[in-house]
Amino acid sequence: MTAPILAPSILAANYTHLKKDIEESIKGGAQWIHCDVMDGHFVPNISFGPLIVKAANESTDAFLDVHLMIYNPDDYIEKFVDAGADLISVHIEATQHLHRSIELIKSHGIKAGVAVNPATSLQNLEPILPYVDLVILMSVNPGFGGQTFIEQSYERIKDLVTIRQKDGIDFLIEVDGGINLENIEHISRCGTDVFVAGSSVFKANDIESRVKELIKRASHGKQLLV
Ligand code: DX5
Ligand code: ZN
Repeated sequence: MTAPILAPSILAANYTHLKKDIEESIKGGAQWIHCDVMDGHFVPNISFGPLIVKAANESTDAFLDVHLMIYNPDDYIEKFVDAGADLISVHIEATQHLHRSIELIKSHGIKAGVAVNPATSLQNLEPILPYVDLVILMSVNPGFGGQTFIEQSYERIKDLVTIRQKDGIDFLIEVDGGINLENIEHISRCGTDVFVAGSSVFKANDIESRVKELIKRASHGKQLLV
C-alpha cells in the first residue's frame, strides 16, 4: 500500500510569504504542491497564472501539481510547463478535445491529469482513463477555496476505484475540495491516493503540525480501506 500524498493548495496561502508557507507544509510531510489556476470564465473566480506557479517552483523541489480551471487549456500548457509544472490537469468540461489536450501535456514529458466536476458522470471519463496519470475528483464546485465537502463524493471515489479495478488501468485518484481534519480519514478509506487541502493547511496557526496530522489521519484511513 502506498503512503497517502498530501497536496496543499496554495490558493489559501499568504502571498506575502508564499515560500515560507510552502516550506512549512513540506516540513510537515507534504510531497506535492497544488496550484489552482482560474480564468474567471470556466469558474467564477480569477486566481493566478504561470508567474505564481514559477514562484512556487522556485520555492521548493516538491512535485508541482497544476490544476487548470480554464477554457482553451491547450493555449497555455507550454507556459505552465515552462513555469515548472510536473503534472497538469485539465477539466473534462473545459476542453473540446480532451484526448488532444492530454497528449499535448504528455508531449512535454510531464504527467497529465483530467479533472471532473461533481455533477459530471464518471462514465464520461472512461474513454480517457487509459491515457491519464491522475484523475481529480472535485468534491466541491470549482472556483473557491473554503467550501464544504459534497457528501456524495464518498460514493464517487469508490465508484472510480471500481472502474479502475474493472478496467485494469493505473492512475492516481486525487480528491479536491473541502478536505479537513474531520473528513480526511473517511475520504482515505474510500480509496483516495492524493489529498488536496487548501484552507485546512494554510489557515492553520501551525502549518507544519497541521500537515502532519492530516497525513496521519489519511494513513489511518488507508489501513481501513473499504
Ligand atoms: C477549488 C480548488 C481547490 C481548493 C481547495 O476550485 O480546485 O483546490 O482550492 O481548497 P479547500 O481545501 O479550501 O477546499
Ligand atoms: Zn484544485
